[in-house]
Amino acid sequence: MSGIPHDHYEPKSRSEKWIHSRLPIVGLMYDTIMIPTPKNLNWMWIWGIVLTFCLVLQIVTGIVLAMHYTPHVDHAFASVEHIMRNVNSGHMLRYLHMNGASLFFLAVYLHIFRGLYYGSYKAPREITWIIGMLIYVLMMGTAFMGYVLPWGQMSFWGATVITGLFGAIPFIGEGLQTWLLGGPAVDNATLQRFFSLHYLLPFVIAALVVLHIWAFHTTGNNNPTGVDVRRGSKAEAERDTLPFWPYFVMKDLFALAVIITVFFAVVGFMPNYLGHPDNYIEADPLATPAHIVPEWYFLAFYAILRAFDGDVWVVMAANWVTGGIIDSTFFGVMAMFGAIVVMALVPWLDTSSVRSGRYRPMFKWWFWLFVVNFLVLTWVGAMPADGIYPYIALIGSTYWFAYFLIILPLLGVLEKPLPQPETIEDDFNMQSGKGNVPAE
Ligand code: HEM
Repeated sequence: MSGIPHDHYEPKSRSEKWIHSRLPIVGLMYDTIMIPTPKNLNWMWIWGIVLTFCLVLQIVTGIVLAMHYTPHVDHAFASVEHIMRNVNSGHMLRYLHMNGASLFFLAVYLHIFRGLYYGSYKAPREITWIIGMLIYVLMMGTAFMGYVLPWGQMSFWGATVITGLFGAIPFIGEGLQTWLLGGPAVDNATLQRFFSLHYLLPFVIAALVVLHIWAFHTTGNNNPTGVDVRRGSKAEAERDTLPFWPYFVMKDLFALAVIITVFFAVVGFMPNYLGHPDNYIEADPLATPAHIVPEWYFLAFYAILRAFDGDVWVVMAANWVTGGIIDSTFFGVMAMFGAIVVMALVPWLDTSSVRSGRYRPMFKWWFWLFVVNFLVLTWVGAMPADGIYPYIALIGSTYWFAYFLIILPLLGVLEKPLPQPETIEDDFNMQSGKGNVPAE
């Protein structure tokens, strides 16, 4: 099969040349949309477009919500009720924004797991990965602050618990917590600064997304075989790739249409399924809810936070060695943030020279166990912190760290990889039984 030519932008008419020699923006857009893309990208490569859709959806619905919302402890709850009842299509706007956050996190987790399985974080894509991790942390901050805005019971108590964690940091904790809250407790100053930052951060995320896309356009996309399509000759590269437009635009739009259909079914028929009923009760600083739980997308990290209580030997050892400076709360906080830090460092922790998990027989097992472990942590994060649950959380948290700090470094040394194709065309031929011979 001969390759499809990948042409670059050439200004043709006089006016095109005039613009191009002054501001080559059309050329930049053309080359971006026509970028040579590995022709074997599978359905796990759709999450980037879904994430972009979510970001735009959250910004657009958020801006309109902000036109009717009042960031004041005396009015916030009522202003959200006003949006739900009186503003034209206000309930729809709010439900889109609420469930849009869930779709955003679902997509980001699938996007991250895709990257972890196919080794998309490995050289030369480390910067794409690190920018992705920054986006993820900002997404968490944005979602956390957004959840406080309706000023329901879960908003208030969730904010109290999570900001209280900063108070557990030795020496500077108390001052830091007061500074973050704008006072001694979660109150009006907190609500107003959270509103301000919740409005700002999506634009910072948008800027990081531009850098993210720029970074992987510089290195080229990874793909299920892990073959570097820019490595070989021009003819080989042309055989292994297709221009992004129209081939992948159509595929992505089809996937997006399917996902939007399911999303609208949730928004229309079960908009509160993922929410907590307590958040329809106005915040009351004098009445603690029986069971404070964060949104589903934070549960795995919430489980890690709670896993390390004072009875765990590492916590006792840390406490003893530091003369009581590291207590169980601070240890939990370090574990929770540490879980994200080790994931961000995976490009340097994974020692295997093989990129795609497809050709790594041992890695596959540990990877799928990691996925199951993530789901177990998410489940256990929603359970009360007594009985058997803290033990499950502890085992799950230990596996999280072991995966990044022990298993991935060791596998690179111990594992014998399967044979890998030289080109994507070779992979097609091998799978269709034509042998490892590049087709004409
Ligand atoms: C707002 C959030 C994000 C957006 C809009 C976004 C967008 C994209 C897009 C459009 C792609 C191209 C291919 C694809 O669809 O997968 C991509 C690739 C990639 N993303 Fe993200 N991303 C986001 C967050 C993240 C996060 C949190 C990570 C994890 C650290 C990450 C890691 C990667 C990596 C490693 C690639 C390269 C994969 C390849 O080369 O094909 N991204 N991203």
